[in-house]
Amino acid sequence: MIKVLVTGGAGFIGSNFVRHALSTHGDWEVTTLDKLTYAGRLENLKDVMDNPRHAFVKGDVADPTAAGPLVAESEIVVHFAAETHVDRSIAGAGEFIMTDVYGTFVLLEAARQAPSLRRFVQISTDEVYGSVADGSSRETDELRPRNPYSASKAGADRLAYSYWATYGVPVIVTRASNNYGPNQFPEKVIPLFITNAIDNVPVPLYGDGLNERDWLHVSDHCQALDLLIDAGVSGEVYNIGGGNQVRNVDLTRSILQLLDKPESLIRPVADRLGHDRRYSLDTSRLRRLGWTPRISFDMGLAQTVAWYAQNEWWWRPIKDADPAFRTYYESQYGSRDA
Ligand code: NAD
Ligand code: TYD
Repeated sequence: MIKVLVTGGAGFIGSNFVRHALSTHGDWEVTTLDKLTYAGRLENLKDVMDNPRHAFVKGDVADPTAAGPLVAESEIVVHFAAETHVDRSIAGAGEFIMTDVYGTFVLLEAARQAPSLRRFVQISTDEVYGSVADGSSRETDELRPRNPYSASKAGADRLAYSYWATYGVPVIVTRASNNYGPNQFPEKVIPLFITNAIDNVPVPLYGDGLNERDWLHVSDHCQALDLLIDAGVSGEVYNIGGGNQVRNVDLTRSILQLLDKPESLIRPVADRLGHDRRYSLDTSRLRRLGWTPRISFDMGLAQTVAWYAQNEWWWRPIKDADPAFRTYYESQYGSRDA
């Protein structure tokens, strides 16, 4: 059996990857290491909690006593664990430095000593390139992160690379664009807007709504990671993008249309500080390895809207009953006039 460690596997992308990995690879034994922050939820793993090839460990990647022994026994490490929300990083960056940078350092130190390790996947992000006025970012482009989240991810991205260049740790770095799909925490724009609209609550659109993101369905992301674990070359960076450039205002209108809700639900609010205008990825390096996204944005968005409509059990406890989420929502949006 091949031992695989997935950090952050109770979060959005990590849990989708754990499910993908167990159903695709009958010879993988997957351990999820997750601290269960506000964004980590065991409900995301409920389909695999009884699977004999899956184990869940609650722990912090920045704690060597929790993370070290798990890395030491692994052949493959896929490192998703991070603080991930830009707006929270603007409100306070400390946890981002502790988990995204220091936590990655702890894992890499353990990886240096791991006898059977053949792949360490550092999950980075297209946000490390910063805002791109036109064209698409290539893996060799300069990194110009502009908010505390993307800066902490850029630090981890280059730290992982340095452990390949210096110590030969078999690192690849992946930089994915904005993901969407089932199990995404309803602070991010797509699940927030879908669940607000279901409840006829206004959707807070930042600034002029003309910022653009390149949307990638989470299952296409998982397929790409699976391919890269074997086909990726250590020391290399791989962009993973869906090729779906969408302006936020158009995304918002599509969500409202799919739910048959009026555009009067759009509430223009003050812009995010330092809001990156546009991200766009050149994915030719990955495509040369045979990957291509399978889910069109129209189909993926319709499926995602349907998932949130059919799975209120998953998000209502967060949005309606979790006092921490209410406090967060109030502080972000309470008095945020345009
Ligand atoms: P998420 O916020 O949904 O989940 C993060 C998970 O990490 C949670 O389960 C949380 O409990 C766990 N975690 C946080 N701190 C931890 C710690 N110290 N120790 C152990 N576990 C910890 O995030 P996501 O959207 O699934 O993103 C996963 C990864 O993908 C992140 O590294 C993120 O930077 C990257 N990424 C995300 C996107 C996106 O659009 N969501 C795009 C590109 C890259
Ligand atoms: P988000 O989902 O937070 O992802 P990221 O900042 O990592 O790209 O935001 C996606 C886009 O949606 C971004 O341009 C900010 C915008 N946005 C809003 O307009 N309103 C919101 O309430 C949120 C959370 C985001």
